[in-house]
Amino acid sequence: MKPVIILKNITKIYQSGELSFRALKNINLTINEGDFTAITGASGSGKSTLMNIIGLLDIPTSGTFLLDNVETSKLNDNQLAKLRNQKIGFIFQSFNLLPRTSAIDNVALPLIYAKIEKYERLEKAKISLDLVGLSDKLKSHPNQLSGGQQQRVAIARALVTNPQILLADEPTGNLDSKSGFEIMQIFKRLNKEGKTIIMITHEPEIAKHAKKIITIKDGDIL
Ligand SMILES: Nc1ncnc2c1ncn2[C@@H]1O[C@H](COP(=O)(O)OP(=O)(O)OP(=O)(O)O)[C@@H](O)[C@H]1O
Ligand SMILES: [Mg+2]
Repeated sequence: MKPVIILKNITKIYQSGELSFRALKNINLTINEGDFTAITGASGSGKSTLMNIIGLLDIPTSGTFLLDNVETSKLNDNQLAKLRNQKIGFIFQSFNLLPRTSAIDNVALPLIYAKIEKYERLEKAKISLDLVGLSDKLKSHPNQLSGGQQQRVAIARALVTNPQILLADEPTGNLDSKSGFEIMQIFKRLNKEGKTIIMITHEPEIAKHAKKIITIKDGDIL
């Protein structure tokens, strides 16, 4: 099995003025290609902090993070942004779609940053929306879609750059149990097709869909 994420002795200290808070304490974690891992833990335990580091949205205070064999601490901001765009698709609890923008344009957005021509952007966005069963909603705006459908648009957007890794922070947190279950079926299918998935959730019913469950307590992996 090929490791895609290796965290060695990762510590994160948030500093605000005189106050410092150790949100992650010497985390050691390896995620292999094809894993589907759920991260659970109480509110404030450090789940999002860990996710933001894995997603290159934040940098650790100390420790080593290898993403697909790249030592990330050696990269500058531009290189980090490029690696993030290539390797990682993000899915959030609150969908984070642009409100006055159609589903297809929301999904095509990451391809603008990847400098892909408009025609190809729309073709790829269509394929991506088809993967989540929304071929009939290309022109719909977020306020014309149900919560579950909006989250499927967000998944299509995460998939459109064909990233190796999907990171989801409470992807079902705003959904009823039926829509949440549907999102898990999509995740399981994507995982079978080869995506490595890391998902934060505090719901045991959702976590059990993953192949592996990791629990964080006070910044430590249990
Ligand atoms: N920017 C910050 N400055 C200072 N402390 C922070 C900052 N961000 C997070 N923290 C603290 O770090 C700890 C971990 O926060 P984090 O957001 O990772 O928790 P979480 O496990 O994702 O919680 P939740 O389930 O509520 O989303 C918390 O105690 C939080 O107060
Ligand atoms: Mg969180």
